[in-house]
Amino acid sequence: MTKSMQYETVALDDDGDALVILDQTKLPGEVVSLRLTRQEDIRRAIRLLQVRGAPAIGAAAACGLYLAAKSIDADDYDAFYERLKAAKDALAATRPTAVNLFRALDRMENVASAHREQALPRIKTLLRDEAIRILEEDAAVCRAIGEHGLGLLRDGDGILTHCNAGYLATTRYGTALAPIHLGLERGYRFKLFVDETRPLLQGARLTAFELCAAGAEPTLICDNMAACVMKSGRVQAVLVGCDRLAANGDACNKIGTLGVAILAKHYGIPFYVCVPTSTFDPRAATGDDIPIEQRAPEEITEMWYEKRMAPRGVRVYNPAFDVTDHELITGIVTEHGVLRPPYGESIRRVMRDGGA
Ligand code: MRU
Repeated sequence: MTKSMQYETVALDDDGDALVILDQTKLPGEVVSLRLTRQEDIRRAIRLLQVRGAPAIGAAAACGLYLAAKSIDADDYDAFYERLKAAKDALAATRPTAVNLFRALDRMENVASAHREQALPRIKTLLRDEAIRILEEDAAVCRAIGEHGLGLLRDGDGILTHCNAGYLATTRYGTALAPIHLGLERGYRFKLFVDETRPLLQGARLTAFELCAAGAEPTLICDNMAACVMKSGRVQAVLVGCDRLAANGDACNKIGTLGVAILAKHYGIPFYVCVPTSTFDPRAATGDDIPIEQRAPEEITEMWYEKRMAPRGVRVYNPAFDVTDHELITGIVTEHGVLRPPYGESIRRVMRDGGA
């Protein structure tokens, strides 16, 4: 494994007995792997962001559903399917926004349904194969995003990123950080600016950790500093990830992404959304159709502080994501290439033809 990717974010253990994740709530202070076998622990890991990032939660849920299937002791397919479906629905209820979670679970369910005539042990094997396929496909897709994204950058560029869309959010390379990892491996010297990303600090805790571990020397900034860094001329491109891309190109990503996109437009800086087509949701016509997760007020009022920093009882609004209007996006970097406006058309074309 290269220096850029020292840690494994999500995997099925060699015997197919457990989901293995890097506990991201402990980073950067402690690097701890968790070996999860029980459904409630897997669901909890997704809900608490021990594993997070759209592709990673899809892969974790797929492994989780395989583990659920493996433990089902049923006499016939119908009884097996009823319990599989209950496990699927429970995993799907963990987080609402990243479409990869639902995509991956649907893929798993479809494998079971398509082979309903087969013996149950065979169906379980096929489910394990599908979970592994989801893990492996993600790594290949992210690498392709990295190649296409790197083609948009020049040696020495200043690049700003928000949240963590690196290998900690996927199975390898990342999406928005994939061009950076590949560039670093090839000797590019980027000047990297990392938004801390309030309130859960995915930038400060995860992106800064991931990039430092890769040998880069990122500069961490508070979210409210992005404007002045851009104004100073030090940013040549913004790269962000995506949790769900609507059919018109509106991109839902970590809260704060919209503000970064507006600033980039103001200062004439290209704003790229790096996203696998598994994150496209053709059923969402625009960003308004994307469900936005609301999270606990304590993430704002007291988490990370030694003592509570807001008056008790204060009303808190804590949406975990926002939607960047497609008009603000310079290009959408997918595994098949870079899509340009008008996005309705370019998205339809890539969904129909893929890389062809
Ligand atoms: O709440 P999180 O940490 O799961 O949010 C993650 C993001 O918003 C990422 O930018 C997105 O999932 C893209 S990951 C390649």
